[in-house]
Order: sequence, then structure tokens, then C-alpha cells
Amino acid sequence: MVNPDVRVFIPDDLSEAAATILAADIAEVVAARGRCRVALAGGGTPVPVYQRLAQPPLSSQVPWASVDLFFGDERVVRPDDPASNYLMVKGSLLDHISIPPGNVHRIHTERPAEEAARAYADVLGDQPLDIAILGMGGDGHTASLFPDTPELGNGERVRVTHSPEPPPVRISLGLDVFTQAHTVYFLVTGAAKAARLAEIKRQIESGAPVLPAARVQPASGRLVWLIDKPAAGNFA
Ligand code: 6PG
Repeated sequence: MVNPDVRVFIPDDLSEAAATILAADIAEVVAARGRCRVALAGGGTPVPVYQRLAQPPLSSQVPWASVDLFFGDERVVRPDDPASNYLMVKGSLLDHISIPPGNVHRIHTERPAEEAARAYADVLGDQPLDIAILGMGGDGHTASLFPDTPELGNGERVRVTHSPEPPPVRISLGLDVFTQAHTVYFLVTGAAKAARLAEIKRQIESGAPVLPAARVQPASGRLVWLIDKPAAGNFA
């Protein structure tokens, strides 16, 4: 059970700080291991972080040709649907960096969900992620792993899940994939998430995590929370 390394920023600084940390970490992994496998978070919080990663000087610090970009989860919609995480990443990052198309591993949600999940498990392979970037929903979900759902506990590396919020059907990497990652970064902002984040921290410290965002416990890697002061509430 690893306690998070909690780094708190004022709201205006968080995106730049997170992008700077990620760029340096990716470059360091490539220098050490030759390649870096990164799973990207969906949702809205990462957008300004990806936008900064896509601009100089950070974009030129990242050896994109040696980076494999995966998706931590995807909504089962067309890739040109406004709800698509791929479309969000394309607009905030991919369209602005020179990364070989073969390094971007999209979840093919235009195929039947179970088939797309199985195919993605093959694309992802068994090698651990070097970096997993995750967000946290107000209910304590992360990626598309939602509280009190049967999918949470099954050991599938890539699975079809069901969201209480639309779009209902999702494809998500499983807890095991995040647990095996070398470094997990949570990006959480906003006062609306402060109480839930404090609960997540309590669950981790208690050694009895229940909510999905508390159950992402790197087995031997690092767990880093990059959060802003409103989300930190009174615990950081
Ligand atoms: C998604 C994400 C999801 C997200 C949280 C937080 O597909 O929506 O994977 O887990 O990270 O819901 O979303 P916000 O960053 O928009 O608050």
C-alpha cells in the first residue's frame, strides 16, 4: 500500500507544472529504457496539460518518436464524437506534435465493444506502462472504473464497463494495468472534488481501499497526485 506523493499547486500553475513534470519524466524514461509507454487520461482536467505538452518548449523536450501513447479508457462512441477521449487528445495534443501515427494506439470503438476491448488488450500487451495519467470523477471513479460495479474486480487488462453518466458504455484498462505501472499520476482539480479526494486518501491510509481511485496502488511504482489547492481542501 503506497501513500501518494501529494503535490499541490495554485489553480493557475497546475497545468504548466503537471506538463513540465510529465515531459521530464517521459524524457527520463526514454533515456533510461529506450521507449516510454504512456496511458492518457480522458475527461476535461487533462486538456490544458496536454495543450502545454503540445507547445514549445515542452513539446521539444519529449522524444515523441520513442513514446507509445495509449488511452486509459474510452467512451464507446465514434472517434469523431465530441464525447470521444481520442478526439479530445487529438485536438489538445496529437494535432500539434510530430509523433509517428503508429505510436498512437486508439481504442477502436467503432467496432463492437467486446471485440474492441479484446483487440486493445493485444495492442497493449503485457509489458507494464511506464506512466499512467488518471483523473478522478466526483464519485471516486477513475478511467472508466466505476464504484460498486462488477467489472471493477475482474482481472481483465482491458474491459467493457458501464457508466452511470453518458455515454453509458466504456472501454477501460483494468486496475491491474494501473497497479503494474511504474508511475501513476492523478490530475485532480476543483473544490467539488475535495471531499471525495480526502475520502480516497483516508481509504488508502486505512489499507482498505474501496473506491476505484483509491484502489490504484502501484505495486512497486510511484503514486503521485498533482492537485490544485481547491481540490486539496484541508489535507495537504
Ligand atoms: C473519462 C475519464 C474519467 C475522468 C474523470 C474526471 O473518460 O471521463 O477517463 O475517468 O478522468 O471522470 O473527469 P474530469 O477531468 O472531466 O473532471
